[in-house]
Amino acid sequence: MTEADVVILGGGPGGYAAAIRCAQLGRSVVLIDEAAVGGTCLHRGCIPTKALLHAAEVADSARTAAQFGITASFDGVDVTKLHGFKNTVVSRLHKGLTGLIAALGITVISGRGRLTGPTTVEVDGTTISGGVIILATGSAPKVPGMIQTSDRVLTSDQALELDRIPSSAIILGGGVIGVEFASLWTSLGAKVTIVEALPRLVPNEDTAISAYLERLFRRRKITAKTGALVTGVTSDDDAVHVTLESGDVLSADVLLVAVGRGPRTADLGLTEAGVQLDRGFVVTDDKLRTSVPTVYAIGDIVAGLQLAHRAFQQGLFVAEQIAGRDPEAVAELGIPRVTYCDPEIASVGLTEGAAREQYGDGVETVTYDLAGNGRSQILKASGAVKLVVDPAGTVVGVHMIGAGVSELIGEAQLLYNLGVKAAEAARFVHAHPTQNEALGEALMAVSGAPLHLHG
Ligand code: NAI
Repeated sequence: MTEADVVILGGGPGGYAAAIRCAQLGRSVVLIDEAAVGGTCLHRGCIPTKALLHAAEVADSARTAAQFGITASFDGVDVTKLHGFKNTVVSRLHKGLTGLIAALGITVISGRGRLTGPTTVEVDGTTISGGVIILATGSAPKVPGMIQTSDRVLTSDQALELDRIPSSAIILGGGVIGVEFASLWTSLGAKVTIVEALPRLVPNEDTAISAYLERLFRRRKITAKTGALVTGVTSDDDAVHVTLESGDVLSADVLLVAVGRGPRTADLGLTEAGVQLDRGFVVTDDKLRTSVPTVYAIGDIVAGLQLAHRAFQQGLFVAEQIAGRDPEAVAELGIPRVTYCDPEIASVGLTEGAAREQYGDGVETVTYDLAGNGRSQILKASGAVKLVVDPAGTVVGVHMIGAGVSELIGEAQLLYNLGVKAAEAARFVHAHPTQNEALGEALMAVSGAPLHLHG
């Protein structure tokens, strides 16, 4: 029997962050994963998709070079090289991560683990015992019962490895994965139609952001069918056919199913060991302890935002508790959210709607259009920064859309998480010319002292 202070099931961003911090704090750690450490984020999620999205941006730059006075042309995509670029980024990061894990003396066990008691996990017939167990098994794409995946009907896992650029694609779900793939495939030459059940794209974002995105996607000739329900999916040798409740039938080369991700908690022995689940998610208290006192849960298996950086933070939070510290709990609304479609979306805190529900009519908002920002003009970035301020003048929401706005989320999340008053932040200097000035202008405007803002 192997023994360690901490046994971690799942080596994604949650599990490996917990492993690293536990080891740094002097605990012996066993990290178990049936696949490569790094999890969805490194191998099938954040990193490979963003690598492809960067390549898509290069394609768009080539296509639009003439408007900057540069002679270039977009002549096509070498899919083998495209995947080669993506895989090189992934394998370098994977090598760095495994090196770090080894240097810290963390024992990695390759195999599928199963909880067999409050302090024991079994992997391929071997029992591993720990003082504490951390569950971090992540999530997997959800596929509605009426849909069968195939070489034309893909989840994001298969879409990332597709050996061709589809000539056309239907994307089921206009959430984060849906709009990122819509953007990617459009840039690489596909004709894309998004089918979203709710009345707007990115329905978790502020309504103004959805409206901007829909307008800017229309400009890119991406079709969005919102408020649309699918009643059937069939495939033949030539295409996949998607029937909508309205009777319309859409046909395309491929269908991407992007209707959310479900927690990977089945067949792990959790219920048998007394770990309480709710609709597949592990139930935890505010310290991320499960119903079994020696078992913690972190990341996508805990209901809430399914984001790698939330998992990192939860991993650190749990590791520090195990080491006897008293870290501060993670505030869900203070976690920055970034979607890497073109235009990018970045937000933190409350939407205007949620702020009005919480604070009433005294809520103020300002929307600063990137048309007034010099750097955005140079980059030809359309979009806006929207600030939501509570009746006391405190920033309670920041919502941004436009090429490059992902890089503005650092300041935005500090404003929100530190509970800064807009008027206080407005006196700080934003370097010129940066897109960051748009945030500065919005802060000045909402404090009643706009500079570059009409009327
Ligand atoms: P999501 O929850 O963001 O979006 C799913 C969308 O599908 C929703 O808008 C929903 O209304 C719609 N939908 C559900 N059932 C449908 C149906 N039958 N027909 C039509 N529409 C339907 O989930 P998504 O995009 O699959 O992403 C999964 C998770 O991964 C999310 O939590 C997301 O935050 C995370 N992720 C984060 C990224 C980032 O931070 N940049 C990138 C990719 C994923």
